[in-house]
Amino acid sequence: MAHNGSRRPLMAANWKMHKTVAETEEYLTTLLPVLEGIDGVDIVLCVPYLALTRATELTSSARIRIAAQNMHHADEGAFTGEVSAPMLAEAGVGAVVLGHSERRQLFGETDEALSRKVPAAFVAGLTPILCVGESEAERDAGETQRVLRHQVQRALEHVEVADLDRLVVAYEPIWAIGSGQSASPEQAQEAISFVRALVGDRSAEAAEAVRVLYGGSVKPGNAGDLQAQPDIDGALVGGAALDPEQFAAIAAVAG
Ligand code: PGA
Repeated sequence: MAHNGSRRPLMAANWKMHKTVAETEEYLTTLLPVLEGIDGVDIVLCVPYLALTRATELTSSARIRIAAQNMHHADEGAFTGEVSAPMLAEAGVGAVVLGHSERRQLFGETDEALSRKVPAAFVAGLTPILCVGESEAERDAGETQRVLRHQVQRALEHVEVADLDRLVVAYEPIWAIGSGQSASPEQAQEAISFVRALVGDRSAEAAEAVRVLYGGSVKPGNAGDLQAQPDIDGALVGGAALDPEQFAAIAAVAG
């Protein structure tokens, strides 16, 4: 499917806290041959820390990038339990999810921390996949744009304009995550074109280049209608991506 000018579609699987190393091997054994038939789409697998190394080894010859699901902003230091961008880069990791709503809601991730993490990812050569999105109460109160503006502006505050076009943003309305109730294609398009315009406040060129994904209850059955929207450049898929065949079916809508 032709899509969105020059932006190459990106389909990302967010495994969250699922899959051991053995299960990672099993998943890739199924996924890799199926993906061979799918062209013109970048694939990213966001896997738990302990599976990163094995995942990068198994995908080194494939056009799949492996991503972490979080990182600390400092290169090293007295931060017990944390992992840094250079450590991820050394493991062959190419991207990192930052600001997922589960981290914001359950683990106290702040906009302040994200304003350091996003530039630190760029410095280490990682592609940040910045997650933004409103809660149901915020949407009902008509605050969606205010929330998105705040999240995007804060996260990009210290990012160099020259890096901005390599950014990936995932618009994930919190009410749609894991609920089975995805945003409608029109709702997703509206929010995503707004996110693109926010990037445009920093650089018109970057706004054209930056890939903005939709996330929240994406399934093989709704991925096509979402992907057909002019500003939607792909998906960040949770539950449905735990099954390699379902994830491949979703990736295929962009291929
Ligand atoms: P879901 O999760 O596809 O299970 O709704 C998406 C996400 O949290 O990234």
